[in-house]
Amino acid sequence: VLPFPELDFVAPVPATAQIAGFYRQAIADGRLPVGARLPPIRDVAAACELPRTTVQEAYRELADQGLVAGSVGRGTTVIARPAGSAAPTPLAAHPLSPYGEAALRRQQGMAGAPELRRGQTLVANFAELSPDGERFPVDDWRAAMDAVLRSRGAQLLGYGHGGGGLPELRALLAARQREVDPELGVEEVLITAGAQQALDLLLRTFCAAGDTVVVTAPSYHQMHGLLRAHGLQVIQVPFTADGIDLEALRRALQRKGVRLVYLMPTFHNPTGRTLTPVQRQALLEVLAPTTVPIVEDEYQSSLRFRGAALPSLRSLDRRGLTLTVSTMSKELFPALRLGWIAGAEPLLRPLMAVKRCMDLETSPLLQAALVEFVGRGALDRYQDALRLELATRHAALQAAARELPPDCRLTDPDGGYLAWLELPESAPAGAGDRLAELAGERGVRTAPGRIFDIDLRPSRGVRLSLSRATSQQIAAGMGVLAECCRELLDAPVLARPFL
Ligand SMILES: Cc1ncc(COP(=O)(O)O)c(C=O)c1O
Repeated sequence: VLPFPELDFVAPVPATAQIAGFYRQAIADGRLPVGARLPPIRDVAAACELPRTTVQEAYRELADQGLVAGSVGRGTTVIARPAGSAAPTPLAAHPLSPYGEAALRRQQGMAGAPELRRGQTLVANFAELSPDGERFPVDDWRAAMDAVLRSRGAQLLGYGHGGGGLPELRALLAARQREVDPELGVEEVLITAGAQQALDLLLRTFCAAGDTVVVTAPSYHQMHGLLRAHGLQVIQVPFTADGIDLEALRRALQRKGVRLVYLMPTFHNPTGRTLTPVQRQALLEVLAPTTVPIVEDEYQSSLRFRGAALPSLRSLDRRGLTLTVSTMSKELFPALRLGWIAGAEPLLRPLMAVKRCMDLETSPLLQAALVEFVGRGALDRYQDALRLELATRHAALQAAARELPPDCRLTDPDGGYLAWLELPESAPAGAGDRLAELAGERGVRTAPGRIFDIDLRPSRGVRLSLSRATSQQIAAGMGVLAECCRELLDAPVLARPFL
């Protein structure tokens, strides 16, 4: 059965066009063949939380294009495929798996940061969390690749390095991680194709459709997509300036079928917040009476430019039930697609087996080149420079924050690329989403807070990523954001409904 459209409420495309586009695509690819009926308008309206007139308008658009015809009593029927569309795929006869359907739906309706209008000058890009390619140590990487290819290219270009990954990389990563996780053994590291595969792998291995996963609100939006694709129920627990709401977490853990708790204890995405040592202990006390594993996503924890590194949740969890996910994507290059999971061997063993089903192994060549790159001191050199740059950018952000109206709050993280700007509670729900729109119209791109809520609920915050903004751009961009905040607070306007 074709699912309902999942709308992107922050995209500059009206809801009518999104609904019409969704059904036009389904007609074109054969999921809605000629003769099939579109779902009743009231059902689509209810599923998308829109007035019926909006859906009616979308159906009328399809009728005007000659694709559907409506008749009283029989509803709306497909009468033709769009001109020029390729031969229908046999999707109608062979429906996609729930995973495939959910992934596709999520992809089509992926909420993102508003784009600039064509011709508009960019003042600052705070939208994407994507390291700046201009800074990449490409020559050092090429030298490392050359060295390993020269010394053992034939071996590295073959299969057969299965298990948890290249032993020397596992050893190296375990050694580096011991600063925050002193007992971590080499056998407790599993190399993955980035953190995203690690997260998928964890859900595949420990959860079944219908199970429940606890996440923070807000949380990493690509994890939301994965959770939906796996058919999981999600309970959101607030993560605010006071830390994670432990009462809400306790209540969530009492529910049946909770299989995982997913957290980012260090430089959390999207807020940049870090749990203090006391908050980490308190969190583990709440989990202690349960057997629910924690997944801690430490996707940018090594990019700390201030203060001492904090013990990982894994090292503090006496139950041995925490798995740490890490990645090279933020601290080096995303295109390496290298990440890893640290966890007790009994947890890692099934993960290895499932990983083998997924892709046999992660590229041995890239793993070996990374070991070489680290051995030459290139990673430390790059990260030292990156941390300095991040410290400078965050300082520029905090300096510019003085222009914000007094009740606005900006987080001040000790590392990583992110910060979170939040309008006061007196502002209407959705004020952050409106702020992202307003700023976008003036050349400042940000990620609206609602995309970090699994149900895309309105937010008072926006995520600011400093990965693509220089200190000058940060100052100019914050000037614009401060001006927009003042306007929103002087004359509160609710996020524009999309009709
Ligand atoms: C919190 C978090 N986890 C995981 C990932 C995925 O990273 P990777 O590129 O290693 O798959 C990201 C990427 O932005 C992220 O922000």
